Parts: sequence; C-alpha cells; structure tokens
Amino acid sequence: MSDASLPQPTAQPVSGRTTARTAAVIPAAGRGVRLGPGAPKALRTLGGTPMLIHAVRAMAASRAVSLVVVVAPPEGTAEVRTLLDAHALPDRTEFVVVPGGETRQESVKLGLDALPPGFDIVLVHDAARPLVPVDTVDAVVEAVRDGAPAVVPALPLADTVKQVEPAAAPGEPEPVVATPDRSLLRAVQTPQGFDRDTLVRAHETVTGDVTDDASMIEQLGPAVVTVPGHEEAFKVTRPLDLVLAEAVLARRRLNDGF
Ligand code: CTP
Ligand code: MG
Repeated sequence: MSDASLPQPTAQPVSGRTTARTAAVIPAAGRGVRLGPGAPKALRTLGGTPMLIHAVRAMAASRAVSLVVVVAPPEGTAEVRTLLDAHALPDRTEFVVVPGGETRQESVKLGLDALPPGFDIVLVHDAARPLVPVDTVDAVVEAVRDGAPAVVPALPLADTVKQVEPAAAPGEPEPVVATPDRSLLRAVQTPQGFDRDTLVRAHETVTGDVTDDASMIEQLGPAVVTVPGHEEAFKVTRPLDLVLAEAVLARRRLNDGF
C-alpha cells in the first residue's frame, strides 16, 4: 500500500524507462549539396577522419548507447562498413549499417526499421553534427529516461529572425512580413531523443515534409521538451562550417595534450 501522505514525485518515469536500452540512428545518406562537389558529406574528412566516424564516436561515447545504426549513402554501404571496421570504436557498442533513402525522413525511417527489439529509447543524430559533446548526448538520454517522450537540444538564437514573403527568384528583394520575438525562439540540434514507440508511430503516420524528427511528434500530439544544446553540436552545412569544425578539433587536440 502506498502512503498518500508522502510527497509524490511530479514526473513519474515511464515504467522501465530508467533501465531502458538506448540505440542511436545516424542518418548519413545525404549528398551534401550545400557543401559543394565531392564525396557524400558524411564521408568527407575532418582532421583526417571521416565526419561519420566522428559522429559515431560521439554517440558511442555515451555509456547509455549500446547500438548505433548508420544509415549510409545507398551506393556507399560497403565503404561505410569498411570504415567502421578500420576505426577504433568502443567494444561495448554494436553497429549496423543500412542503405538510406531519398530524403532525411526516409533515411531515418529505414534506420528505425533496422532496430532490433529491446531498445526502448532511440536517439536520432545527424552525421553532419560530428562534434557534439558527450554531455549533450547524456542530457538528452536522461530527459527521455525521466519520462519525456521527445527531447531536443536547443540554443537561443544570436540573430534576429524575419519572416518574409519568399521571392520568386534567388537574390530578389523579399518583403518582410513579421519579426518573431527572438526570446521565444530556439535553434534545435541533434541528437534528438525519443521513446521508441512514439517515434515509430510518428514515422508511420506523419507524411508531410519535415526537417527534424521532433516536429513529427509535435504533429502527433505528445509534448516535446528541450534540454540545453551546445555550440559544438553545430551542423556542417556549408564550406565555412568545415573551417570551424577543423578549428574545434584542433583546439580539442591541443587541450587533450596530443
Ligand atoms: N540525410 C540522409 N538521407 C538523405 C538526406 C539527408 O540520411 N536523403 C542526412 C545527412 O546525411 C545528414 C542529415 O541527414 O547527416 C542532415 O541533413 P543535411 O545537413 O541537410 O545533409 P545533406 O542533405 O547531405 O546536405 P544538403 O541538404 O546540403 O544536400
Ligand atoms: Mg539536406
């Protein structure tokens, strides 16, 4: 019998969530058009190591993560398997490689389809965010373990944001429609963390175009919450981002005494 006079915790962890096993799905099947011509973005190197390997290591660095599903460029699955074999990765983590799809959303779905039973928490992490610190990964996992069905790392915006009437042709002036209150806006990153069943349901029912997984959950209903993101979890999108990523790596190597 429970004692009703004792204070009750406000947010009860969903049963079993505190001991749930966690898998990470890494969509890495994009071309990287905005980065310019060359190999698929995830296979480009940073500090001599493919971006994808950095991203896999970032997930495997979390003690919570025991399986990493890499969603590879369809023509590059064999190469990705070879890369995973060739680079030192923690023994406690297993790896699965599957071919990706036409869109990020399709690639994530293909990764989810490859998840074996027994993993109740899923992280979805862009290969294009190779430098996310392990503390951010752990904070996301912890928030899901504490009962949130969907968790996103988020940062306040530095720039003021304008809503515009998009121009017909690139470079044309665009009428400004509104200036949303910046203090209410956040830029979100990955890994995004989910109760597995909730994420699978979202991928089965939400069909519209989305740019992240949490927005599918928003359309479905369950609450999405943020945890603090990290500036080093930025997405490598354009050539200048490669310069920044190399600088972050160089600073880490200096600090680690290499
Ligand atoms: N992604 C994927 N499958 C796709 C498209 C994207 O797995 N069909 C992955 C990318 O590999 C990346 C993540 O989704 O890790 C975020 O996408 P983005 O940064 O847009 O990468 P790309 O789509 O490769 O880049 P671009 O949009 O410039 O072509
Ligand atoms: Mg893209």
